Amino acid sequence: MKRIKKIIYISLVSVLICTIGCANMGSVSKNNNSTLSSHFKGLFHLGAAINEETILGKDSKSVSIVKSEFNSITPENSLKWMYIQPKANQFEFKAADRYVQLGLENDMYIVGHALVWHNQLADFMQTINDADEIQGYIANHINTVVSRYKGKIDAWDVVNEAFDEDGSLRKSVFYNNLGEDYIEDVFKLAKKADPQADLIYNDYNFYKPKKRAGILKMVKKFKSKGVKIDGVGVQAHWDLKSPSIDQIEQIILDVHAAGVPVSFTELDISVLPNPWEMVGAEVTQNFSQFEGDPKMSPYPNKLPSKVQKQLAKRYHDIFKLFVKHSDKINRVTFWGVMDKHSWLNDWPINGRTNYPLLFDRNYNPKPAYKSVLEVNTNPKN
Ligand code: XIL
Repeated sequence: MKRIKKIIYISLVSVLICTIGCANMGSVSKNNNSTLSSHFKGLFHLGAAINEETILGKDSKSVSIVKSEFNSITPENSLKWMYIQPKANQFEFKAADRYVQLGLENDMYIVGHALVWHNQLADFMQTINDADEIQGYIANHINTVVSRYKGKIDAWDVVNEAFDEDGSLRKSVFYNNLGEDYIEDVFKLAKKADPQADLIYNDYNFYKPKKRAGILKMVKKFKSKGVKIDGVGVQAHWDLKSPSIDQIEQIILDVHAAGVPVSFTELDISVLPNPWEMVGAEVTQNFSQFEGDPKMSPYPNKLPSKVQKQLAKRYHDIFKLFVKHSDKINRVTFWGVMDKHSWLNDWPINGRTNYPLLFDRNYNPKPAYKSVLEVNTNPKN
């Protein structure tokens, strides 16, 4: 009798715990036991960029979303040159080491972002005016950083944003000192440091035909010369309308035709006004004259349900297309975990309230999360 009472008691307590527990989990796995990464398993890696708070374990809610929802990570800032080698030959690996550790412990596809980029570059690099000197620093940076994580970091954004909008090479400190072959040299250095890692060229505004053509011409040249390049990274800082699904499809088809898989490396969808019809992600752009202008941040407290639905539909349409072309796609990575920490709250105007990701400011899944999980994952549908 005592035993039966105990069984009934335990059952009641379990039901109660489950009820409270499940309610607290929001609807993350309530509907169909899927998580984002398990839903798209076998089609492409599903990743998130993680900030330093998450990497260092200070944001435990973000850590738990990352572990349960994603099977790939990218460091939002911690591996950029200005943090890794802030002064000549002085390397700071604390956050980067923890980042790689987190990925290894959770068996994730670990991305390194980014080796050579004109932004968030250390100050000492920006003023160099000598080819040998800059070449020496680049080689040392790549050897040191890539070798340290050899066999651990799965993919490197080797060069980031090296092209201008017209498809010509950006006149960066790298180009100005080294001329047009510097990208090829950098890819060769990366391959030497870790022959197994996937080597990616990453950029924004691929939907612009001239820019895309310029980049893909380089990719084809590398392929024909036998220079190792394993993929193109399309940043995907988009908004509710632009680029169109047709334009995104064209990117996938053209990258595939150039002979490499595509990764969508920095996906987020801004819902805020963009009066300049500005596209892309030039991080130095800043419209400070609009700071504090309520017209530029119309949803300071809550996203109206109409816009919430538009965002959900936009994400659904995008993932439907990704599934259709999953044989050409290696990875889809969100640029952040939840809305509050998105860089789009401060770019291109500081202090706005944006809603670009799948998790809200309280770490709860949004309707867009559900709409992504509702995408049929059979590519033939
Ligand atoms: C952004 C980060 O999200 C911000 O925290 C940082 O202040 C600026 O850079 N393209 C890239 C990313 O390749 O590295 C940028 O990340 C966003 C645009």
